[in-house]
Amino acid sequence: MRLKDKVAVITGGTRGLGRALGLAFAAEGARVVFSGRSARSLAPALAEFEKAGFQAHGWVADAGDLEQTAALAAQAFEVFGGLDIWVNNAGTQGVYGPTLDIDPGVIEQVVRTNVMGVYYGSRVAMRRFVEQGHGKLINIIGAGGRSSTPYQNALASSKAWVRSFSHALAAETKDSGAGVYAYSPGIVLTDMLSDLRVVEGSEKRLERFPTIMRMWARPPEQVVEKAVWLASSATDGKTGLEIFNLTPFEMLAGAAREGLRMLLRKEPPGVDLKITTVPPSR
Ligand SMILES: NC(=O)c1ccc[n+]([C@@H]2O[C@H](COP(=O)([O-])OP(=O)(O)OC[C@H]3O[C@@H](n4cnc5c(N)ncnc54)[C@H](OP(=O)(O)O)[C@@H]3O)[C@@H](O)[C@H]2O)c1
Repeated sequence: MRLKDKVAVITGGTRGLGRALGLAFAAEGARVVFSGRSARSLAPALAEFEKAGFQAHGWVADAGDLEQTAALAAQAFEVFGGLDIWVNNAGTQGVYGPTLDIDPGVIEQVVRTNVMGVYYGSRVAMRRFVEQGHGKLINIIGAGGRSSTPYQNALASSKAWVRSFSHALAAETKDSGAGVYAYSPGIVLTDMLSDLRVVEGSEKRLERFPTIMRMWARPPEQVVEKAVWLASSATDGKTGLEIFNLTPFEMLAGAAREGLRMLLRKEPPGVDLKITTVPPSR
């Protein structure tokens, strides 16, 4: 029970990685408040927590709105009496394709959720953590946090921002007792990975996606352990940590498995990938 009696807020906890994080935190003794954009999307996740006998509370809050984010934090105090852990998980990827062909509204939505959302969540949580002298802020990054990613430019650039922002915030608050961490979960089998919108004409570029998924993607519940560790007292005094869940060794192992499959001419396992084509923005 590494998170016994801790109160954790997870933005975007209705499905995918956020829901898996919430369930993993609760299994370690945390009481969890999670958000989503609609009451309809909160309900199935709440039912899962209840089924497992965990204490959880869902709240509608758009991560890209400061007031709604502050109200989410207030829920943690109102319902569970405190705030110890905050995960800025809510994220959106926009549309896959050439940057110049993507609708500006799509880019704005990515920036609003992935950049402003992380800023708002960090501001609300860290002000409290610094004041109380303890607390863990975990910001979710991705492979794009380290290098540029053509055709997924908005998503990858937003993660580069989150990574840099997290390190700077950790440095600024290093003597406060609070911790700021960046967590890259690797490639995770969620809607974000398998439900793609692509600019017309770029569909061919996605042909390698099923191979990438076979080599490296993992279900959300298999990538949460290191995030639990980050949220626990094991990282006290270690602010500024950055964890990349998919290690070079695992990448090699996944590639070797796929290579062997091809060598043995075994039928590839099916990959669930839904692709919706959108016209280029003019
Ligand atoms: N999947 C991957 O391979 C991967 C890899 C690296 C990093 N990540 C990161 O992991 C995080 C979670 O991604 P995922 O794969 O679990 O995505 P997902 O399956 O698409 O789930 C996204 C979650 O974020 C919520 N959300 C989206 N926009 C929101 C907003 N404006 N306000 C509040 N909640 C919002 C969604 O809730 P509702 O729809 O219910 O509102 C949902 O709970 C993201 O930050 C993503 O960039 C994912």
